[in-house]
Amino acid sequence: MAEGVTAAACAPPPDVETDDCLRDYRHLFSPDILAGQVAFITGGGSGIGFRIAEIFMRHGCRTVIASRNLQRVSEAAQKLVAATGQQCLAQCVDVRQPQTLAAAVEEALKHFQRIDILVNNAAGNFLCPASALSFNAFKTVLDIDTLGTFNTSKVLFEKYFRDHGGVIINITATLSYRGQALQVHAGAAKAAIDAMTRHLAVEWGPNKIRVNSLAPGPIAGTEGYRRLGGQSAEQASMWDTIPLQRAGTKTEIAHSVLYLASPLSSYVTGTTLVVDGGSWLTSANSFSALLDVWAAGANTTA
Ligand code: HXC
Ligand code: NAP
Repeated sequence: MAEGVTAAACAPPPDVETDDCLRDYRHLFSPDILAGQVAFITGGGSGIGFRIAEIFMRHGCRTVIASRNLQRVSEAAQKLVAATGQQCLAQCVDVRQPQTLAAAVEEALKHFQRIDILVNNAAGNFLCPASALSFNAFKTVLDIDTLGTFNTSKVLFEKYFRDHGGVIINITATLSYRGQALQVHAGAAKAAIDAMTRHLAVEWGPNKIRVNSLAPGPIAGTEGYRRLGGQSAEQASMWDTIPLQRAGTKTEIAHSVLYLASPLSSYVTGTTLVVDGGSWLTSANSFSALLDVWAAGANTTA
């Protein structure tokens, strides 16, 4: 490190690897920055979505966490309420089925009378070379990620945001920027979402709706990290090539989502915030190395 340079601005806040709440938390943003608001977070029962829910709740927000596995979101909601003292409603949805989203949004509005923030975080992914990817596997990832994001955004727009305004944050990825090997399905799906972000920002801006994407890099303690070979990359010191020389944490992503959700970003719309320590600029994109990870079984279905 250069002499006299403080590392504080690059130091990650504390995190825990599992889907549990943080043991200690020090507010960097004002603790009431989301006071009185309600956020609807798809995939909020695990990984990055769980931590986004926790950080929002620690800043005064009530949350709805929604995914296919009701037991998982219900258990997550209990943990979140216990750690933060805020309210959290668990809902069962499949983002590929608009009627499940409509029912969940109606229930959320009945419960909280408002929704201010939508985080489209639900996704599906696995390593697979294009040559081995079935037509249905490609379609499945596009259905969950891209159509799921459109479905959820449209339901929220029609049921609340059109008349009240709101904020939408789409969790995407940097995979398409350099054509990441073994990721044609997820890269294409997330690139389409980044395009959707710009289209909807233009069309829905007059309704006082801001729409942005947030593209994380490799984030430790997540299913995505496990499936994409994050642990073996870490063991092989591959993160040394990232400008900030480490994987990111769920709390770091949640803090950046909090910025995009809050009035701090009141004039920010139609953009993608990359939160990856500079990773996509320098990390290896080795077809053969990723084939080795794939062959070793990191492509296992959950
Ligand atoms: C190849 C696979 C596969 C795999 C499933 N398929 N897993 N193909 N490799 N590992 C194929 C199946 O054979 C089938 O095609 C088709 O995909 C649909 O599979 P289903 O199991 O029926 O789908 P479904 O039950 O809808 O489950 C969706 C899923 C699953 C994506 C396949 O893994 C899931 O639910 N994932 C959610 C959790 C998750 O993925 N988290 C990580 C997000 S991380 P056929 O032809 O046989 O019918 C992330 C990181 C991005 O997105 C960027 C990181 C840098
Ligand atoms: P994760 O824990 O597996 O999160 C995905 C969530 O989506 C799960 O809670 C899952 O819950 C839900 N989900 C999946 N399919 C769904 C469907 N059809 N309908 C409703 N919910 C569904 O993985 P993660 O790693 O934290 O990923 C979170 C987000 O970050 C994703 O958008 C991912 O693409 C993005 N991302 C992650 C990384 C990383 O390093 N982890 C990097 C870049 C981008 P159920 O199974 O209960 O439905």
